Amino acid sequence: MTADRPFFVTTPIYYVNDTPHLGHAYTTVACDALARFMRLDGLRVKFLTGTDEHGQKVEQSARAAGISPQQFADRISAAFRDMTRLLNISNDDFIRTTEPRHIRSVQSIWQELERRGEIYVGRFSGWYSVRDEAFYDEAELVDGKAPTGAEVEWLEEENYFFRLSAWQDRLLAYYDANPDAVAPRSRRNEVISFVRSGLRDLSISRTSFSWGIPVPGNPRHVIYVWLDALTNYLTAVGYPTTGDPEFASFWPADLHLVGKDILRFHTIYWPAFLMAAGLEPPRRVFAHGWWTVEGQKMSKSLNNFIPPQQLIDAYGLDPVRYFLLRELPFGSDGDFSHRAVVGRLNGDLANDFGNLAQRVLVMINRSCGGCVPEPDALTGSDRELIEAARGLLPTVRGHMTEQAFHLALEAIWRVIGEANRYVDEQAPWVLARNDQTRMRTVLYALGETLRHLAILVQPFVPGAAAKLLDQLATPEGARSYAALGAAPLVPGTPLPRPEAIFPRFVEEPA
Ligand code: MSP
Repeated sequence: MTADRPFFVTTPIYYVNDTPHLGHAYTTVACDALARFMRLDGLRVKFLTGTDEHGQKVEQSARAAGISPQQFADRISAAFRDMTRLLNISNDDFIRTTEPRHIRSVQSIWQELERRGEIYVGRFSGWYSVRDEAFYDEAELVDGKAPTGAEVEWLEEENYFFRLSAWQDRLLAYYDANPDAVAPRSRRNEVISFVRSGLRDLSISRTSFSWGIPVPGNPRHVIYVWLDALTNYLTAVGYPTTGDPEFASFWPADLHLVGKDILRFHTIYWPAFLMAAGLEPPRRVFAHGWWTVEGQKMSKSLNNFIPPQQLIDAYGLDPVRYFLLRELPFGSDGDFSHRAVVGRLNGDLANDFGNLAQRVLVMINRSCGGCVPEPDALTGSDRELIEAARGLLPTVRGHMTEQAFHLALEAIWRVIGEANRYVDEQAPWVLARNDQTRMRTVLYALGETLRHLAILVQPFVPGAAAKLLDQLATPEGARSYAALGAAPLVPGTPLPRPEAIFPRFVEEPA
């Protein structure tokens, strides 16, 4: 049994120079589905999200808004916290890099790196992009810009450096010994070939602005925002107090879920910093793809920037969560379009799942006196359907372990499809007239299948799943995965009046 095995999963911490949008919602919803799945599967989960509040970019945005960086960070961080409520996110902690616990943690890791001889003072000259908060080699520039398209500036400063170059072989050995540490596979290959091509020491302090954590013993310098930000994952488990049970159970992190744009920071710098400080690197980093909107890159200037609230107002929360996780193979890029969302909502949710639930529950309500019916002997096809539902957990678990959310949902929807075919074949509305005993058996088999489906979809569409489980009179204590096989529907249990769980989306006439 997996009982009580710890599982630590994180989102990136979001920059506070921009308000939340679809991209942020995506990473957060994916992490939430995973955290919920693991909890239901009996693991002791710690799910962390938060905001990344230091750096030149935030300092500049605050100045433009005419307020202090702290006031600016307070304002936008609150919007990200609101996003977690809006999306029904089950995070256990929300970290801000301006909190005292984090400042202490970052200064401690700095001192540890210094003590171990991993940091030295040097002179930096090179290209820096404020938008990416990243350094670039001359050879990486494309038409005088960063490979991401961001503006770069020439920087010459006295800096502290981290001996990244010394970690090349140990990083390669780490990837080699941990084939699942960087996913998906194509990204892993990308990272390995980048590291093989050679690493240069990394500048980890700045003197030309002040919105950051001061370097211990030399407050003229602030700590590079990525060393600061990445350390949030350690802060949340109590670093530098590594002797506590909290740290011992949750470190190394089981999974950092990130977008493909920040993969290098998480799979090269981060494991190197950790190993250099005598700590274990994360077990896994998974990089997901990017969404375009109606075929275009999302940006404020194109006016296609989608705040999560706008989506939820239009489609409802669970359909949005479902769409984000079902539409794309996790790891690939894809397009967000109104048509695609409505297609999924009216097809998968309203027609396939919603309709199945509605048909079964309404029939039980009308023809079985509103109580779970008593089944007679099961036939081959009854057993086949129930077995298909029972077989789902190991399949879904396998996909979730690989962050293949779309495959997990596809597997669940295959059984929904089977259940719909079974309803059509068995035609319980005909049985209601000529064979009530058989009708009760069919409706029991369907009710039991629905119970499995409702329990399994909880991580993805928690609101709708709870509504369905209420309608099946499944007690709160019988909704975990352990209850799937252990607590079947009890004949005679009264069920509440059925209500649609996924209303259809009806286009307003233009
Ligand atoms: N602050 C850093 C992360 C530090 S983690 C120690 C950062 N923040 S961010 O706010 O810019 O981005 C956070 C996440 O949002 C990234 O994982 C990024 O990939 C994701 N997305 C931003 N736009 C996106 C899309 N258009 N599509 C999908 N995800 C995108 O980076």
